Amino acid sequence: MKWFCRNISVAAALLFFLSSHASADIKLPAPQTEGGMGLFQALKERSSAPGGDFPTAPLSMEDLSTILWSATGLNRGEKGWTVPMAHGLPPYVYICAALESGVYRYDWAANALVEISKEDIRGKIGAQRFVASASCSLIFISSAEGLVDVKDEDLKKHFASVAAGAMTQDVYLAAAALNVGARYIHSIKFPETRSLIGIPDEDEILCLMILGK
Ligand SMILES: Cc1cc2nc3c(=O)[nH]c(=O)nc-3n(C[C@H](O)[C@H](O)[C@H](O)COP(=O)(O)O)c2cc1C
Repeated sequence: MKWFCRNISVAAALLFFLSSHASADIKLPAPQTEGGMGLFQALKERSSAPGGDFPTAPLSMEDLSTILWSATGLNRGEKGWTVPMAHGLPPYVYICAALESGVYRYDWAANALVEISKEDIRGKIGAQRFVASASCSLIFISSAEGLVDVKDEDLKKHFASVAAGAMTQDVYLAAAALNVGARYIHSIKFPETRSLIGIPDEDEILCLMILGK
């Protein structure tokens, strides 16, 4: 009996250890791809929510899914995205979402958030104080691996900047259509953010977009 109890305790401890260390990826709900506000109305309403009075309520997973899809989701089968990419490459700028529950990389193929860390880093990445109050920060990162076939360094930077511009404008438009507050942020604590996310040395943080309802 003693032997049995001891083994049950060991198994329970092991289960607790595994569950507390298991990654908690998030399967996103399907993005909204029909209906809603028209494009021209969204263009009329696109604006940056003021930093001083940034909306702090969390957005729904449906809204987050739609915004991420707008930024870099598949829109035509397996090789067509909502934003243009040089040479038709798969998106070489990727997005990490900083939420209260942790940091996740958006996987456009799986429509999922893949957990990178369980740490809430939202208060540690912006150089301006209001950035900490946003319920979600999207971090746009240029992938060295994604641009490995582009040999010219200036061209890599150019391609990544154009991609980030297209992606962030799509975020602004989707946010306007969903009545979500959004703001582009370049004032980032770059070294701290890099080490908090733990991205490869060759990848480059480009900008943030903060979101809130
Ligand atoms: C490249 C770029 C960098 C920006 N960086 C910041 C920033 O670090 N902090 C901030 O509060 N807003 C930032 N913004 C937001 C601009 O201040 C905002 O877009 C501008 O005031 C115009 O407002 P609108 O977007 O409502 O038209 C940035 C915008 C762009 C395009």
